[in-house]
Amino acid sequence: MVARINTVAFQGIDVQPVDVQVQISNGLPAFTIVGLPDKAVAESKERVRAALHALGIALPPKRLTVNMAPADLAKEGSHFDLPIALGLLAAMEVIPKEDLERCVVLGELSLDASIRAVTGILPAAMHAASNDNSLICPFDCGGEAAWAGDLDILAAGDLLQLINHIKGTQVMNRPEARLQDADGRILPDLSSVKGQESAKRALEIAAAGGHNLLMIGPPGSGKSMLASCMSGILPPLSPREALEVSMIHSLAGSLPDGGLLKHRPFRDPHHSASLPALIGGGQRVKPGEISLAHNGVLFLDELPEFARGTLESLRQPLETKEALVSRVNGHVRFPANFQLIAAMNPCRCGHLGDPDLECTKAPRCAGDYQAKISGPMLDRMDLQVDVPAVEVADLKAATGESSADVAARVAAAREIQAKRYAAHNVPYSINAKAEGDVLANIGIFDDNAQELLEKSMQSTKLSARGYYRIIRVARTIADLESVKTGQTIEKIGKIHVAEALSYRRTSLS
Ligand SMILES: Nc1ncnc2c1ncn2[C@@H]1O[C@H](COP(=O)(O)OP(=O)(O)OP(=O)(O)O)[C@@H](O)[C@H]1O
Ligand SMILES: [Mg+2]
Repeated sequence: MVARINTVAFQGIDVQPVDVQVQISNGLPAFTIVGLPDKAVAESKERVRAALHALGIALPPKRLTVNMAPADLAKEGSHFDLPIALGLLAAMEVIPKEDLERCVVLGELSLDASIRAVTGILPAAMHAASNDNSLICPFDCGGEAAWAGDLDILAAGDLLQLINHIKGTQVMNRPEARLQDADGRILPDLSSVKGQESAKRALEIAAAGGHNLLMIGPPGSGKSMLASCMSGILPPLSPREALEVSMIHSLAGSLPDGGLLKHRPFRDPHHSASLPALIGGGQRVKPGEISLAHNGVLFLDELPEFARGTLESLRQPLETKEALVSRVNGHVRFPANFQLIAAMNPCRCGHLGDPDLECTKAPRCAGDYQAKISGPMLDRMDLQVDVPAVEVADLKAATGESSADVAARVAAAREIQAKRYAAHNVPYSINAKAEGDVLANIGIFDDNAQELLEKSMQSTKLSARGYYRIIRVARTIADLESVKTGQTIEKIGKIHVAEALSYRRTSLS
């Protein structure tokens, strides 16, 4: 007799159904798992055997075969323990197998039969809900699974509790979707950054329209500080965005307390990060930093210090908004719609252009240092701003605007954009993503603005990408002015284009 249990395998963000089939047949005693299991799955028979032993259930001295179909799909991870254990129990007729037919099961077993948390519960629960199935998962993952919607969920702390529930001798309640309480984040406030008005303005434009930003300046001028203020001025995630981001973090096992993420992710990997750490990969393909920053910010501090290959690997995801990890046995895709914020010194000593401080190798060393950032990479930076050294007078000056004030303007500008793109019936809601016909529709200039853009396109040899990026930034600047004046600005004016052009350089020096 064959018992069947449904579970899933993960391929990037995609969930593939897996059918765990367990057969007990006569023959020499053996316990075999087939169907391309990885090391963790192959070891699962020891955990399952020990967990059943802990409950006083011995495996029959027969031939036990576990097949995981489809046989050509690689099975990775420890979440197959529970489906295998339930399949064995059903095949041994300890539990009725009919009750498990419309269930998706995930969980890792300990030797004492407790069920340990696993990654990927949210995507698995969404898959179960869309197929009208129920979900059996570890107790610690119940809060996360409950976000998937209106499906039946059994979140069990140990195998005995689960068996008792299935046999009807004990009843478990459906877990509640967990909301994070007060957000314990302590964010640096923009008011603590003295001076740097133009950099603050660029930060506001970047936040409002979702544009990429590069800050260049001497050491200690506040670049890292400004970037860390970004989280405080970005609006919270919309429910749909929160679900998308949480699915990726669920796969990486980094969801806080099983609750959904509420705030836009801000990821700041160290410059020693490897290519798989940034893009995704590893033996069991995991989302990289760019996917963990989906719908949020990726901050690359000390940009030229990143390995060249690692930086160049960002070029494609910056355009396609997804990370594609290629493997011998297939491709794995993760969404990677992030906003890039980067900071760098103009040269190795950091004081290029300051006659008192610059080193003897200037300006040659600057050329070498800046050459680490390739032209195509620079072309993708919508806003490039200088962050000069702060004057003592600035440090003594009264504090400026707080993050809350700027955040209010950013939120209002995003609302204007959301309305605009909803009218165009497109799936995005910020200027940075506008393209094609929509961009042509939203980027209407008045005559002077058009003339200025065309002239500067010729004189600065702006690329086609640069041209469209200027239009998007100019649109955001016009939207921010709409917020300030309270009047909708339909046509982008010369002043908006001029400001957008001022943030664009063709080379760094
Ligand atoms: N504009 C500023 N206003 C207030 N404090 C500042 C400012 N700039 C720098 N500081 C102070 O200097 C410290 C270092 O600043 P920060 O790390 O942002 O410099 P940086 O520009 O990133 O330098 P580096 O190029 O060396 O990374 C901050 O923690 C803060 O105390
Ligand atoms: Mg810094």
